[in-house]
Amino acid sequence: MDWGKENRMSKVIKPDGKCFYLAMDHGYFQGPTTRLENVGQAATPLLEFVDALFVTRGVLRSQISPKVNTSIILRVSGGTSMVGGDLANEAVTTSIDEILRLNASAVGVSVFVGSDYEHQTILNLANLVNICEPYGIPVMAVTAVGLELEKRDARYLALACRICAEIGASVVKTYYCENFQKVVNSCPVPVVIAGGPKTENDFEVLEFVYQGMQDGAIGVNLGRNIWQNSQPQAMARALQGVIHESLTPNEAFELYQSYEQEKSH
Ligand code: 5RP
Repeated sequence: MDWGKENRMSKVIKPDGKCFYLAMDHGYFQGPTTRLENVGQAATPLLEFVDALFVTRGVLRSQISPKVNTSIILRVSGGTSMVGGDLANEAVTTSIDEILRLNASAVGVSVFVGSDYEHQTILNLANLVNICEPYGIPVMAVTAVGLELEKRDARYLALACRICAEIGASVVKTYYCENFQKVVNSCPVPVVIAGGPKTENDFEVLEFVYQGMQDGAIGVNLGRNIWQNSQPQAMARALQGVIHESLTPNEAFELYQSYEQEKSH
């Protein structure tokens, strides 16, 4: 691996081999998502806990300070909306000039395996890898299911992750599921866990992240379960504990519960 790519990889996978990405890209197809109406305001108190922020170029330029210490993973696919025809009908939205100008440490693109746009979105990934690789920019493939959340089982996710790795992704983001080891073990590149809709209770998040990492994931790319939490900073701190400090779900939950109290003293 050339110096540039190795350097960028070290920004998105820390020396312990783990990573914590804060996903705030949802507006690219959902518009002003609850609690993410102002991304800058939502992101600022959380950045100290995370390794990288996953956003579009529009939000990065308008709401995130260029002096920020956190690495940036740029969401570079889109072209659809919640009120449009099919969420899978995506294209690559951001040129390599922009990726370089914005000093992104990596880029992210969605791939909709099994959809009507499977071929198109796999080629989006392939073309993006072709464009980014000469500049040493790592590509994160997002195995996306659109509104078909029931697709999130090990058989489907293992298929989708393996295809993304074969096409050239440096990292693959996918959902945690039962028998998650099957997904990780058949994917030759590192796997990070996406969150999905906010869970019923807070402990559940810590549990599935812990279990996913026990099963071989290197970290998370989480959004709603952090910034839609009633205590986003406490949840980010607790997740940092699970990811980088090997806390168990119980230990992390204690940290979550005590965080706000300690902060006010
Ligand atoms: C949206 C995404 C998100 O980055 C990803 O789903 C993680 O966010 P959440 O934890 O809220 O699901 O790719 O398309």
